[in-house]
Amino acid sequence: QFELSLRPQRLSQYIGQHRVKENLKIFIEAAKLRQESLDHVLLYGPPGLGKTTLANVIANELGVNIRLTSGPAIERPGDLAAILNALEPGDVLFIDEIHRLSRTIEEVLYPAMEDFCLDIVVGKGPEARSIRLDLPPFTLVGATTRAGSLSAPLRDRFGVLLRLDFYDEASLIEIVKRSSKLFEVEIDDEAAQEIAKRSRGTPRIANRLLKRVRDYAQVIGDGTITVAIAKQALELLQVDRFGLDQIDHQLLECMILQFNGGPVGLDTLAASIGEERITIEDVYEPYLMQIGFIQRTPRGRVATKLAYEHLGYTYNDEIK
Ligand code: ADE
Repeated sequence: QFELSLRPQRLSQYIGQHRVKENLKIFIEAAKLRQESLDHVLLYGPPGLGKTTLANVIANELGVNIRLTSGPAIERPGDLAAILNALEPGDVLFIDEIHRLSRTIEEVLYPAMEDFCLDIVVGKGPEARSIRLDLPPFTLVGATTRAGSLSAPLRDRFGVLLRLDFYDEASLIEIVKRSSKLFEVEIDDEAAQEIAKRSRGTPRIANRLLKRVRDYAQVIGDGTITVAIAKQALELLQVDRFGLDQIDHQLLECMILQFNGGPVGLDTLAASIGEERITIEDVYEPYLMQIGFIQRTPRGRVATKLAYEHLGYTYNDEIK
């Protein structure tokens, strides 16, 4: 699959997240030296920063297979038991959105993570007995946008906790150039920078914008992505200088116009603009906070002076 080929396969190809890579490199090396399975890894941070990619990279570096699933996909204990049972020694099991595992499933997972065994109940009623099945040693790589939503017992069973941060502009430029090369499309330095700037610190967004700009360059231009082409295409996509889209604008305008800049509660805000609270919390808010457009206060969210100025409104200190 072409999409998959954009993803780096090895740590050495993985751009950015320096601290995460340095840590992983050592833990992977140590596990290989001791011929043990790598300790369970929890990757957390906003969506699109490369958690799934990193899980694949970890498996490649360890030289093992990876099995990919997600919290909501595992409905019954039997589903998880079947997955675990099929693993080979040292394999990586990746569970995306691990905060969405049900309590029952979590409880199957504890002994599997801790002692590499499964406690299975056979029979019903007074006949019911629990039998213990041994599992091959494996590495659970869990990913979540919200480490805080993980139950404490689950969180405590991960030996390696790694937080992914938004990427800086230089890393995103590198990613855009790398992807352009894989797409076999010419891109000017300035154009790569323009796309990087508007990607909200997020490789997934950078690659998405790059694809749309490439379409534009091929249809409107001669195929080369120049800065002029990039700017026109991004304008058409309604992605502004900071990478903010229509929903970000709606969110900020709602805070400013309807709630006088806040503080306003997240649920009120969500209802006002017709988005899910969780989408605002996981997808929109983290970047708006990162660039200093929104602040969290005990009484709710507040739009900052920067947000007012960016949207062209006058910020009035006096009335606050
Ligand atoms: N594509 C998406 N994320 C990437 C990363 N961190 N490094 C290299 N290529 C990527």
